[in-house]
Amino acid sequence: MRLGYYMRRDPEASLVADSGGRVVGFMMGELRSGEFGLEEPTGWIEVMGVDPDLRGQAIGRRLAEEMLAHFKRRGARSVRTLVEEGTPGIAEFFTALGFEPAGLTPFVKKLE
Ligand SMILES: CC(C)(COP(=O)(O)OP(=O)(O)OC[C@H]1O[C@@H](n2cnc3c(N)ncnc32)[C@H](O)[C@@H]1OP(=O)(O)O)[C@@H](O)C(=O)NCCC(=O)NCCS
Repeated sequence: MRLGYYMRRDPEASLVADSGGRVVGFMMGELRSGEFGLEEPTGWIEVMGVDPDLRGQAIGRRLAEEMLAHFKRRGARSVRTLVEEGTPGIAEFFTALGFEPAGLTPFVKKLE
């Protein structure tokens, strides 16, 4: 269902890394505008993963660079993502790619 959602919305923002015919990483997101008061088209990186045995070999970086190039071609001037506190390595990964903390604070309310 999730793959279908992203493929319908922005097919070129669903990427896989291929090694010898095997998928070793993926990244999915989409270009959106008009959300959270952000009127300009903004790229969002939302789901990603690299094979744990192959991490640290720039697979994630290459996926992200391809994603950013796609968003730029589509007119985005910024790319956003949300990082859950306490998830190891994700903030470090995005920081290494040049991302910095943004002025958006997520709020949540439990539905009972
Ligand atoms: C985050 C993730 C995508 C990184 O993939 P990767 O292929 O290992 O990353 P890369 O080798 O391309 O690293 C790119 C940069 O990020 C840095 N980086 C990556 N993981 C890091 C970590 N755990 N700690 C510190 N820095 C890290 C690298 O040092 C590198 O920096 P450099 O290019 O300046 O040398 C991968 O670790 C992963 O899949 N994690 C789990 C993802 C997850 O939880 N998904 C579910 C929520 S969406």
